[in-house]
Formats: sequence, C-alpha cells, structure tokens
Amino acid sequence: MTTVLKLGGSVVTRKDEPETVDEEALADAADALAAATDASNSADVVLVHGGGSFGHPYAAEHEVSPTEGTHDALAVREIHGAMRRLNETVCTALGERDVPAVPHHPYTAGYRDSDETLTLPTDAVDAKLDEGFLPVLHGDVVTHVGQGATVVSGDQLVVTLARGLGADRVGVCSTVPGVLDDDGEVIPEISVFEDVEAYLGGSEATDVTGGMAAKVRALLALDAPVSVFGPAALEEFLEGGEPGTLVD
Ligand code: IPE
Repeated sequence: MTTVLKLGGSVVTRKDEPETVDEEALADAADALAAATDASNSADVVLVHGGGSFGHPYAAEHEVSPTEGTHDALAVREIHGAMRRLNETVCTALGERDVPAVPHHPYTAGYRDSDETLTLPTDAVDAKLDEGFLPVLHGDVVTHVGQGATVVSGDQLVVTLARGLGADRVGVCSTVPGVLDDDGEVIPEISVFEDVEAYLGGSEATDVTGGMAAKVRALLALDAPVSVFGPAALEEFLEGGEPGTLVD
C-alpha cells in the first residue's frame, strides 16, 4: 500500500513571515505521521511538502514561476537553498519521532522538457521505500529545457509521483478542510470536473501554482483516490479514512 501525501506550505510554515516554520503545526503533522507509520509498518508513505514562506518569496523576488524561467544561477541556488532548509527542518522533526525520513530533492532528481512535461524518475524513490525509508520531496526549481529553470509545485510532484509509483492513495493536506462550494461547505465527493467547475472558477481562472480548479483537474486524472483535507484530519487520513473531499 503506497500513499503519497502532500503537506501544503501554508500548513508547515507561517506564510507571512519569511523563512518561518509553524513549529506547532509541523509538530502535529509529524506526530500524526509517526503514529501512522508506527501502527502499520507495511504502509509506504512518500511525503511532499510545499514552499510556504521558504520557496515562494525567493521565487517571487527572482520572478520565477512554473511558466517563467530563469538562467540566473543565483536565483536557482536561492530558491532551491530555501527549500532545502525547509526540507531539512521537516525531515528533522520526523526523525525526532523515529520516522525514517530522508530527503529527495526534485532539483537534482528531475527536469522539465520544452513541452512542459516533468520527468521525475520514481525508481530512486521506490528504492528508498523498499529500504524502509520515508522519502520527503518538496516544491522546488527544476531545470527546464529552453527556459533555464522553472518552479515545480508540490501538487505537480504529487501527480507525477502517484503515477510513477502506482500509488494506492493520495492525500492533499492544506489549510482548508476540503474543496469548498459557493457557501463555503466542503464538497464530499468530486468525480466529474464539470460538476464543480462553477465553484472553482473554471479552468480559465486558475493559476498554475495554486489554483484549486487546476489542482482538481489534475487529481481527477489519477487512478488513485485522492482526499483533500485540512490539518485536523491528517491523522484520520493516515489511518485509512477519507476526510474532506474525495476526488475519485
Ligand atoms: C512551491 O511549492 C515551491 C517553490 C516556490 C519553490 P508549492 O506550490 O507546492 O508550495 P505551497 O504548498 O503552495 O506553499
């Protein structure tokens, strides 16, 4: 049973304060992961975390996004460096709870082709799982053929990893308790994009890094069921539950 889990950058960092970890939220998430991986040692979990107040400010400063590239090596080092610092903090929090977390950096592991395809070989991730490690990836910069380097979001990594690993379950944990309708209520299940397009602003209104419509569309294309939920439901998801919105 392979699970790919994304922890949004705004869950583990304080988005308004540069390079600041939300210690309490990270501790809660790490506790939930420790309990889950301890309870079922056959549960292979791959964790992906977002950028929050680490990657985003540097990406903005250097005007780099998933679609705007840079050939400035300093920009690449600053964005990647900030993400490495956050990744180290996340892995350390997990390690302190005896979770066998190890880093896996998308910048060195993958690249984007000129047609935007993300290549991220998952055999090295699989090998880590086989050896009993819990790989921790993160939103990052990646080399982009023809554009220098562009940002890859944790959400895109989740989709690529879930496909490559043949994941059985996917979880996306952000600060909202699920995909919300016009009244702010959690939509329990989404199986057809058109059914929720009106709430999500349609595919036109999406932004490539964080837009909910683009996210839902990409998640619907996966074979594995995806749960979109908030931090309070992380434990429930890791115990096998389907909190928040089920995208299937
Ligand atoms: C962004 O990753 C990574 C960088 C800006 C380098 P995400 O887009 O997944 O981050 P969050 O979850 O929105 O913070």
